[in-house]
Amino acid sequence: MPASRRGSGSFTLTTGQTIAIHTRTQDEEDLPHATKKTMADHLRKYESLFTLTPQRMRMIVEAFTETLELGLNKPNQIVPMIPTYVFGWPTGQEKGDFLALDLGGTNLRVCLVTLQGDGKFEISQTKYRLTEEQKQDDGQKLFDFCAECLHTFVETNTGEGAGQLKPGQSLPLGFTFSYPCSQERIDHGELIRWTKGFGAGNTEGRDVAEMFKKSLEKYQLPIKLTALINDTTGTLIASHYVNPKTKIAVIFGTGCNAAYMENVKNITKIEHLGIDPGAEMAINCEWGAFDSFEHEHLPRTKYDTVVDDTSNKPGEQAFEKLISGRYLGEILRLVLCELIDEGVLFLGQNTYKLEKPYCFDTAFLSLMESDPTDELLMVIGIFTHFFALETTLAERQFFRALAKLIGRRAARLSACGIAAIVSKMNYLDEGCSVGADGSLYNKYPGFADRVHEGLQDIFGDKGRNIVTYHAEDGSGVGSAIIAAMTKHRKDAGLYLNV
Ligand code: GLC
Repeated sequence: MPASRRGSGSFTLTTGQTIAIHTRTQDEEDLPHATKKTMADHLRKYESLFTLTPQRMRMIVEAFTETLELGLNKPNQIVPMIPTYVFGWPTGQEKGDFLALDLGGTNLRVCLVTLQGDGKFEISQTKYRLTEEQKQDDGQKLFDFCAECLHTFVETNTGEGAGQLKPGQSLPLGFTFSYPCSQERIDHGELIRWTKGFGAGNTEGRDVAEMFKKSLEKYQLPIKLTALINDTTGTLIASHYVNPKTKIAVIFGTGCNAAYMENVKNITKIEHLGIDPGAEMAINCEWGAFDSFEHEHLPRTKYDTVVDDTSNKPGEQAFEKLISGRYLGEILRLVLCELIDEGVLFLGQNTYKLEKPYCFDTAFLSLMESDPTDELLMVIGIFTHFFALETTLAERQFFRALAKLIGRRAARLSACGIAAIVSKMNYLDEGCSVGADGSLYNKYPGFADRVHEGLQDIFGDKGRNIVTYHAEDGSGVGSAIIAAMTKHRKDAGLYLNV
């Protein structure tokens, strides 16, 4: 009898699907598999492709810092460094009921947030799933769907807040729209380009706040769009609300981006607006676009080039495509496909399931890396359950090592982005907290440690002064705080400028 082992477990994919797997291994194989030595040789090759030396990281940081400066000085740059019209930090005393709508990447979320002051809040929320069709269909229809969900939410949440509205009264809404929008004021935003695989028509180049207001009117909702924000800006403000040491916020999710607080005097491209140079304003960097089109600074492998070429936006979001959850699984899948084509992996097996683009979820990388068993039972489960493929231990160890290389590169590149803001703002000596959120940061094992290790490789021991931590919910709570700050400014007659 061949020795056989069993394993079982369950996990949730980024698509929200929960999967239970039961696996059983068999030692005796009649399929031809790559030897341990072959896998080790291949691994060495990938190690050299995906590894970033500290020296290379410092070069990236230098170019990144210059790019950030350029975006502040000149309009319409690749990394647009978007002024958000969020002026300064919250006091922590913001209070009241606010609605927040979050259109991020995977879901649509509606929240009712009650800010209680002293950095405290309560939140109730509902998530709605977005279909692939909705992401590609007409933009106005997408906003109509948002308004419809808001309508359902307000109707059903007749308890605190929404239910207590007096006739003629409206609830302020913060709309977290997490795509690059150039803003002239806080309740305005022209979509520069879709990112994260979205492609809804008739939206790029248009004011999405206006489009959304049109949808709100259709449903005659007692809601007033007070602020249009990015998830990074929301995260920055929400994190500072509870942890005033926070100076930078980063999202590591379907997309990757950062925001920080800048001195208005340094945003020279908006000098003509006459805003008090002594004021502070949050900047949405849209750093995912770093090195787009020219590809001069980032170490792209041929797999990254394929991911880019076959995306709906070739050339764009070059930095994001090396880091974010939307792409890491696909990068690993492309390496496996190459080894299949070379006749190294899965000889004699039908690999069609693995040949489908984007079928390898980034959650699989997390799961492979966190598999605690010697046999790598989780890896067996993934390959048999999802791809109907038999694997040997040597192959599974290789897959896991590959996941580690790709995940580690993503974390180290992220460290380069953080280091660029830290250098630009001179935060290294005094140190700062970086509020971070998103599935990659929250669920990928060791991601934060690798970012920290990267910061030390760049800055030496002082890199320890820069610490990331799990941020507050920026798209919900942050959005509400910004709506509250904006309302306060409006009531004080300070709508556009300081
Ligand atoms: C993409 C978007 C950006 C967002 C990020 C994280 O990079 O362009 O606006 O902040 O994803 O969601």
